[in-house]
Amino acid sequence: MCGIVGYIGEQDAKEILLKGLERLEYRGYDSAGIAVRNSAGITVFKEKGRIADLRAEVNGDVEAVTGIGHTRWATHGVPNHVNAHPHQSVTERFTIVHNGVIENYHHLQRDYLQGVSMKSDTDTEIVVQLIEKFSSEGLTTKEAFTKTLELLKGSYAIALMDAEEAQTIYVAKNKSPLLVGLGENFNVVASDAMAMLQVTDQFVELMDKEIVIVRKENVDIYTLGGDRIDRDPFTAQIDMSDIEKGTYPHYMLKEIDEQPAVVRKIIQAYQNEQDELAIEPEVLEALQQADRLYIVAAGTSYHAGLIGKEYLEKLAKIPVEVHIASEFGYNMPLLSERPLFIFISQSGETADSRQVLVKVKDLGHPALTITNVAGSTLSREADYTLLLHAGPEIAVASTKAYTAQLAVLSILSAVAAKAKGLDIGFDLEQELSIAANAIQAQVDDKENMENIAREYLETTRNCFFIGRNLDYYVGLEGALKLKEISYIQAEGFAGGELKHGTIALIEEGTPVIALATQEAVNLNIRGNVKEVVARGANPCIISMAGHAEDEDRLVLPAVHELLAPIVSVVPLQLISYYAALHRGCDVDKPRNLAKSVTVE
Ligand code: M6R
Repeated sequence: MCGIVGYIGEQDAKEILLKGLERLEYRGYDSAGIAVRNSAGITVFKEKGRIADLRAEVNGDVEAVTGIGHTRWATHGVPNHVNAHPHQSVTERFTIVHNGVIENYHHLQRDYLQGVSMKSDTDTEIVVQLIEKFSSEGLTTKEAFTKTLELLKGSYAIALMDAEEAQTIYVAKNKSPLLVGLGENFNVVASDAMAMLQVTDQFVELMDKEIVIVRKENVDIYTLGGDRIDRDPFTAQIDMSDIEKGTYPHYMLKEIDEQPAVVRKIIQAYQNEQDELAIEPEVLEALQQADRLYIVAAGTSYHAGLIGKEYLEKLAKIPVEVHIASEFGYNMPLLSERPLFIFISQSGETADSRQVLVKVKDLGHPALTITNVAGSTLSREADYTLLLHAGPEIAVASTKAYTAQLAVLSILSAVAAKAKGLDIGFDLEQELSIAANAIQAQVDDKENMENIAREYLETTRNCFFIGRNLDYYVGLEGALKLKEISYIQAEGFAGGELKHGTIALIEEGTPVIALATQEAVNLNIRGNVKEVVARGANPCIISMAGHAEDEDRLVLPAVHELLAPIVSVVPLQLISYYAALHRGCDVDKPRNLAKSVTVE
């Protein structure tokens, strides 16, 4: 949530910052700003709305080779011009951008800043005012920044400029991601390497509670205690074409289309030299040592976790619990004697999941992270990582990361089963390839998906997704997809549960999307469809070849039942996409949301 950038060098800072912010817009897009420095001092431009609005606001005549920028997802204070970053201290000597939440900002204001009149409602402004206060008491900027950081509770990635020090950007982080990028006669700062790939692919990872002095020629990293740290840069393995929309109208559509290739890439990535599916021995060992697995995740990743539980229990015969991260950390269930925690997260930065990881590590339990982002916080802080290999996912609504999560979870389960000497009874690699082909058939059938969206969702104010067994979990994901991008009130229900209350919501014409891919409950879910139809619902049955009926609106090619979710979710993604498009919604950047949820 929120993205920050910084540049110090010889080129036009404004353009580099704006381009960087455009790449970080997925992190928040309710307001944005940049501050640039030249011999006349620091000039701030900020605007409510998107980076495009900010661009229109920036005066092209201001020449500057140093600057910082921010794109915001509001936490403290409504999204408006005043609350947009950068924020400045009373005398405007100090200017900062901040990503994160300062939990004790009220206390700090009360204890240190009585009498200082605040311009904004943000927690961030407290930080910049503190720096100015300590500096006015005689500390150097580095000392004042360090002293301020020592007082902060919460999460932050901060870039700071001092009007009296033209050659420096100060940065620091705690819990929020931040990288420094290296170049010839310039250096940059960014929440995500993607933002600065236009100028460099060499980055240095920053750790929590470090303070970094970024100059044009060099970057110096210190602990808050003042010890110097040497750290080698790494090369960001991101292809520019992965982060461009190309000819697609939206990232979401591009990412939906990439799913067959992602599944095939995962098969390859998890093959050993004998071309067999394999997982690192340490991960298998950790699984074998565990008496119970605890999957912890949020949103779409939580929905993948529900299906992961089925895979791990059915194939590897390991008991699994699945928990919503924001609940688990503050209401921890009784744990088994030898738990292994599995964190599922596309971004690897989700604060709700991270707070659980910190707690379980404190308790001394092992943790595995399944993520799309190598080097992300959840990956670094867990004992083991399995990568999704889905390529950057930019649309806020997660699509290819979900199918990748399911594919990796299926591989983990099958390989763990084999390690235990269990026969899963089918060739997973072959079945995943068949599933990839079946996904391709869905993405090639867009016209049909668009017609379904028109037929069922054009004017409706609500929509239900029902299913049983694995189909129920896919329905939850379908409902999330639809509501987050089209704002239609959509809910997923277990088919058998409707009669216990929810069926009261069914009215004449209510769209009910029913998934029927699981043979054992095929007749049951069809019975549930009859119940809603009898009460006026407009049913859309999505079934699978082998047990389809004439009444079905969409029949998916037959795949192994356990892998049906990897395929059946795709029409739901496409139907949601077209429903949102028809309603004129901003598909890639839905209201109130952000891609990387780095606040609790
Ligand atoms: O990066 P993560 O997978 O940890 O993110 C978790 C959720 O915030 C995320 O899945 C969210 O629900 C998506 N917007 C869903 O499309």
